[in-house]
Amino acid sequence: MASGRLAIAATATLLGLLGSVACSASQGESITSKDAAPSGALGSAPPRAAGTIGAPGIGDPDFPTDGNGGYDVDRYRLKLAYDPAAKHLSGVVGIEARAIQDLSRFNLDLRGLEVDRITVDGRPARFERVKDELIVAPAELIRGRSGFTVEVAYAGEPKPVTGSSNLGTYGFIPTADGAFVTAEPNGAKTWFPSNDHPADKALYDFEITVPAGLNVLANGELVGEPKTSGGKTTFVWRESHPMASYLATITMGRFELRQGKTAAGIPNLAAVDPRYRDALDTLYTQSGQITDYWSTVFGPYPFSSTGGVIDDFTAGYALENQTRPMYGGFNPDEGIIAHELAHQWFGDSLSIRRWKDLWLNEGFATYAEWLWSEHKGDSTAERIFRGHYAAGPSAAIWRYPPGRAKPEDLFNNSVYTRGGMTLHALRQRIGDPVFFKLLKTWTAEHKYGNVTTEEFVALAEKLSGKQLDSLFEAWLFTAGKPTEW
Ligand code: TRP
Ligand code: ZN
Repeated sequence: MASGRLAIAATATLLGLLGSVACSASQGESITSKDAAPSGALGSAPPRAAGTIGAPGIGDPDFPTDGNGGYDVDRYRLKLAYDPAAKHLSGVVGIEARAIQDLSRFNLDLRGLEVDRITVDGRPARFERVKDELIVAPAELIRGRSGFTVEVAYAGEPKPVTGSSNLGTYGFIPTADGAFVTAEPNGAKTWFPSNDHPADKALYDFEITVPAGLNVLANGELVGEPKTSGGKTTFVWRESHPMASYLATITMGRFELRQGKTAAGIPNLAAVDPRYRDALDTLYTQSGQITDYWSTVFGPYPFSSTGGVIDDFTAGYALENQTRPMYGGFNPDEGIIAHELAHQWFGDSLSIRRWKDLWLNEGFATYAEWLWSEHKGDSTAERIFRGHYAAGPSAAIWRYPPGRAKPEDLFNNSVYTRGGMTLHALRQRIGDPVFFKLLKTWTAEHKYGNVTTEEFVALAEKLSGKQLDSLFEAWLFTAGKPTEW
């Protein structure tokens, strides 16, 4: 979705990188080397403007090949079948996009899997795979600002990302009876070709076919009744609010469901692997209560349904999949439910433009846990803050400034805890009325959009009328134990 974008810095450098990587690709006819050296086959024609080649990254310097440049996706249409016994995924992904420059070539992100065929605006396109980049050369130049559609037919055994830095296992994770699909930060590409970066949010249509007896839990709302024939069931889901690629899911398997509405009237869906049968009612009830409470604190719930899913994959973590938070192999307590549901506002409705601002997701969701505790009459946010602040001056949390998440250690505890402490320090400084007005104004002004830390600081200063540079500098950007609030 076009909601303001990253500047694509140093296009020439990115192209140079792509050119050299692409030339070393062995498979098939190289489309990139030809385009990169237009003086050959194209004779003495003037070199094609470098601007016709979409960049291989969206412009996040910490993740230079995540996402892509040159276009903006409006909608994905995922028409897929999965067979858990064979671990085989196959189908067609349709992408409706808008060019933001002339494009003789553009990239998608896709990891593993085999691509059978690609069309652009209905015409066959050439393509090439280079690492996790799928490079597409349409038959005809796509003009800047024009809309275009891509169809990618592909199949194979999806493999999650494992063992890369400290991010754990993520992406499309096969389970005994289906798959657990949780893809932060860049695992959407393990199951569908995408512009895999939160800076390009899009709408999603899902049409997912599985063996009869299994369920599919994707984002948004189920459209019509699932249809079964020939031993297979097809589920149609639609997410009609902009969504970051890492929040998309098609978690599949056997599930017990409870459906209804929260007290405030928001559709609520809880689903648990049969192993977690005993947790179903609590998950349903607490998810409903917490969603309703956050709606009073953060502003109206931004999506069309809420709830949660417990699957039997022992991830040990949870993910805030849009409308459908997922808990991997454990029965979540209220704190973590409060965390994942707070992410529906902070992370999902408001998404970061670059990963270094991750505290805008995790710091806020962590602070939400403290607010929930306070609301329940348990420990107050102030006491929890004091508990963390008691850490000695050499504690790890003071060495990692959370306002600049490190790509090799993105989900460091400091991004969560010191990020949350930053909000408490701010609350102390500007007082409760302005602080809670700030939270609601923040979510309202950037609903469904992308945000940066600079924008948050500017809004906090505007609403409070205070100069807050030194507070944020100490809490977010400076190593060492802050003394200011
Ligand atoms: N955002 C998740 C949380 O705080 C944690 C997380 C990070 C995660 N990377 C992940 C979850 C990958 C699932 C998959 O709740
Ligand atoms: Zn989180």
